[in-house]
Parts: sequence; C-alpha cells; structure tokens
Amino acid sequence: MTLCYHAERDRANLHEAADILKQGGTVVFPTETVYGLGANGLDEAAVRKIFIAKGRPADNPLILHIASLDWLDRLVVDVPPITQTLIDAFWPGPLTLILRRRDFVPDIVTAGLDTVAIRMPSHPLARAIIAAADLPIAAPSANLSGKPSPTKADHVIADMMGRVDLIIDGGDVEHGLESTVLDLSVEPPLILRPGAITYEQLRAFCPTVQLDKSLLVSFGKDKPRAPGMKYRHYAPRAAVFVVDLAHSSQEIDALIQSFTEKGHKVRYIDESAERLAGQLFSLFRSADADGYDVILVKAVPTDQIGLAVMNRLLKAAEYKII
Ligand code: TXA
Ligand code: MG
Repeated sequence: MTLCYHAERDRANLHEAADILKQGGTVVFPTETVYGLGANGLDEAAVRKIFIAKGRPADNPLILHIASLDWLDRLVVDVPPITQTLIDAFWPGPLTLILRRRDFVPDIVTAGLDTVAIRMPSHPLARAIIAAADLPIAAPSANLSGKPSPTKADHVIADMMGRVDLIIDGGDVEHGLESTVLDLSVEPPLILRPGAITYEQLRAFCPTVQLDKSLLVSFGKDKPRAPGMKYRHYAPRAAVFVVDLAHSSQEIDALIQSFTEKGHKVRYIDESAERLAGQLFSLFRSADADGYDVILVKAVPTDQIGLAVMNRLLKAAEYKII
C-alpha cells in the first residue's frame, strides 16, 4: 500500500519519509527538476525496489542524491580540481556530476560502471528528507520507465500508486526538465545529458566543457554515453513529431490538416523554449489524457535551455522531424 502525504498539510511526514528510507523502503519526493523515486543508495535490496517500481532496465545507472558535502569523499575518488569550482557555482541545484566511484557504492546503483552520478538537489523538502535520513539517496525520475518525467503530484500518483511506500505531494516542480549530467571522469568534461543548467552556464566556469557528440547532430548514430539515453524516453502514448523551425504557418496548417484528414486527433504545440522546458512533460501527459494520438511540437533554437528541450523532444519523437 502506498501512503500519500501533502507536504504542507501533513507535517510529520518528513521524519516518516526518512525512517522509511532508512528501513529500506521507497519514497517519492519533489526535487527542483522533476519528482524523484528514492531509496537508500547503499542498500542493494532497497535500490532493487526502484528498478522494479519503474520497470527500469538494470543497465541504466542511478543518481545518488546527497544533502551534505561530507558524503562526496565517502563515495568518490580521483576528484579533478574543476569539481570544486562547479560545486561552488551550481550546488545545491540541477547539476549531476559523474566521478570515479569507491567500492563502497553498490554495483546495482552504477550498473557495474566504475563511475557514479552525484547530485545535491536544492528543493528544501528533498534536502530535508535526505539530511534526515543521513544517507545518499538513489533517485531516478519517479515515472514508469519510458514515460515523461513527473512534474506534478498527479503524474506521480498515476504512475507510482501501489508501487512505492510513500508519495509526498509537494506541488508543481520548479524546472520541469531533469538535471544536467556532466561527466568529470573524462578530460575534457563531457555533458552527457543537457538539462536545467545550460552548456553556456557551464562554459562560464569550465571553458573546456564539451557536448557529447551523440546529443544533437548525429542522433542515434553514436553509442550514447549516458546509458539511459539509449531507450525510447519521455514519450507519451501519442506519436510525437518535431515540426521543423523553417516551416511557414501555412505549411504547418497543411500538415495538421493532412493528419486530421487521415483520422488523427492532432495536438499542435508552439511555445518558447523556456515555456516548453517547464511544460513539455506535462503537455505530453495531458495530450494523452485528452485522447490526442498525434502531437506536433514546433522545434526551438538549441541555445540555452533550448538544447535540453530539443534533446527530450527528439527522443520522445524518436527523431521524427517533419
Ligand atoms: O533531475 C534529475 O536528475 C532527476 C531528479 C529526480 O534528481 N533524476 C533523474 O534520474 O533524472 P534518471 O535516473 O531518470 O536519470 C539519470 C541519468 C540517466 O540518463 C543515467 O543513464 C545517467 O543519469 N547516469 C547515471 N549514472 C551514470 C554514470 N555513472 N555514467 C553515465 N551516466 C549515468
Ligand atoms: Mg528518468
């Protein structure tokens, strides 16, 4: 059975959440990016529950969430000097760092890799729960594997009711896209997943940072470095198509009409990159709920947050651009 608490109404839940985590249970909590499905990242049996609840492939490693820097030294080795600069600039916040792991980190968390992903979230509730548990908390996005990440408590309830021990409803999240995943175990540092912290922001502190080449140009051709990037992802039930930026509004009207004539119920979305960042996953879920079977989304420029938006959008569309 899944307990469900509202963050503001039910005040005792913070310590109850921490107790459940310490005892090897699973708790969904809000972070500033998306909701996370947490378990004790040092307890193999607890982490296994995450994979089962999500239906997540075992070769896709998890992020360990920490609330205090003390944990970093206990989890990783060979930390390059740039790490401190980036921590000072972006932690707590939506930046995940990949570093060489200590043996102390269970294999199930890293899917057997010799690196581990670490992030210090800024959401006050996430931080308070992690601090109260005093553990590194393994937490992927709290969606069923392959579905859009949850940005509202309703999304979590739809996917995770009956699959986890506790859900904490903290309202809508702040960013709506996942953290940026930056690999510091290689030189130069490599962005494996663009996210809420942009390439431009990172470059200001780490001028050598590079984008993994599989990210935009040669989608699908190079083997993705972040193991999670190779699966169909972020996808609603409806077929998603990216509408090329070059189309005129007449051309777009004709496209919509041709889908409609074939009997499809079409949802067309044309929003700024900033708005899509916050709303894309939620728009996907509401289009499904409203019975649309085709979703057309106008592309956005790939600078700033647009890079992360286009990455999620193209994956959801399985790279179908019209
Ligand atoms: O914003 C976020 O990062 C959210 C919130 C809950 O913190 N979490 C999240 O976790 O998005 P998840 O599991 O959905 O995505 C983690 C990504 C995956 O693409 C995974 O393959 C990658 O990080 N990853 C984890 N460990 C890695 C490692 N050692 N090397 C390379 N990629 C790794
Ligand atoms: Mg995810």
